[in-house]
Amino acid sequence: MTDRTIQLPRQSAEPALVDPFGRHVTYLRVSVTDRCDLRCVYCMSEDMEFLPKRELLTLEELDRVCSVFVGRGVRKLRITGGEPLVRRDVMQLFRSLSRHLETGALHELTLTTNGTLLERYAADLAACGVRRVNVSIDSLDPKRFREITRRGDLAQVMRGIDAAQRAGLKVKLNAVALKGVNEDEIVPMIEWAHRRSMDLTMIEVMPLGDIEPGRLDQFLPLSLVRERLASHFTLTDLPERTGGPARYMRVEETGGKIGFITPLTHNFCEGCNRVRLTCTGQLYLCLGQEDSADLRSPMRMSEGNERLEAAITEAISRKPRGHDFVIERAAPAVVRHMSVTGG
Ligand code: 5AD
Ligand code: SF4
Repeated sequence: MTDRTIQLPRQSAEPALVDPFGRHVTYLRVSVTDRCDLRCVYCMSEDMEFLPKRELLTLEELDRVCSVFVGRGVRKLRITGGEPLVRRDVMQLFRSLSRHLETGALHELTLTTNGTLLERYAADLAACGVRRVNVSIDSLDPKRFREITRRGDLAQVMRGIDAAQRAGLKVKLNAVALKGVNEDEIVPMIEWAHRRSMDLTMIEVMPLGDIEPGRLDQFLPLSLVRERLASHFTLTDLPERTGGPARYMRVEETGGKIGFITPLTHNFCEGCNRVRLTCTGQLYLCLGQEDSADLRSPMRMSEGNERLEAAITEAISRKPRGHDFVIERAAPAVVRHMSVTGG
């Protein structure tokens, strides 16, 4: 037995991922595709050009890089997209990553999905050890849902949510707050979600990707939403933080939770515990900054992981203190789309 095996459960000779500000990186979000079967107005343009498939990490490479991160102390993996479930054979990746849940090295394997394919995959996901899913849904009105997503079928997403709950998955909903579009639905959505034991998190529109129409038209500050909700409900602040930009409140009338993700109006960077991998193998150290590291080349250069490990170490040493979003800027603060980096 070597010294290395004694260092379990962090099964790596390489050091844990601690950035220059002492923050431990324990959460990796991985985009497995930039494609999506929907075209949400705030996320994509009508005629998106997607990456050629050869640019993407293969499922084997995705497993390899995730496993290296788990070896370095990542405890939570979130699979995102685009829409992760449109990636061909994506269940292979979930199945192979589930081995890290079995060893206890990984605490949580989860995904963010638009729900259109959940009906098909919910049971398989549960079988791979997935316990929770985040489902994005911005309206409960079929016509409005179609307008926001440009092509979505609300009934299909509803069947997906039903299937997820039947499979025993805990469902959390994400809704983007859109001025003049779904603001009148926020209260009914909360009541509906909580009746079905789902927490709901509102997200402020972020200046990602250069899409029409102007961002300012869609921007609805959650401070305003919160104020309005306080006249309907009794809200109690909850102390829990996830290391991300969400704050939570309990709605006393329903017993459920609501979250607010306000990357623009709140500073949440001090506790940041996460990094993001794109489907082409770029590691982004901060959602709001352009700085990234290419992990695909070092991974493809050799079969061993030494170069990959070194590239990750180097990248984490450059994790910036915080982000720099300003909605009033004419140009998007960050040009890449959410569907590239993952939400
Ligand atoms: N601003 C805010 N939220 C966004 N999402 C996608 N693009 C944006 C954006 N520009 C949301 C999706 C999903 C989550 C992953 O991110 O609706 O809920
Ligand atoms: Fe697809 Fe999600 Fe973007 Fe909507 S927000 S187009 S569901 S990736």
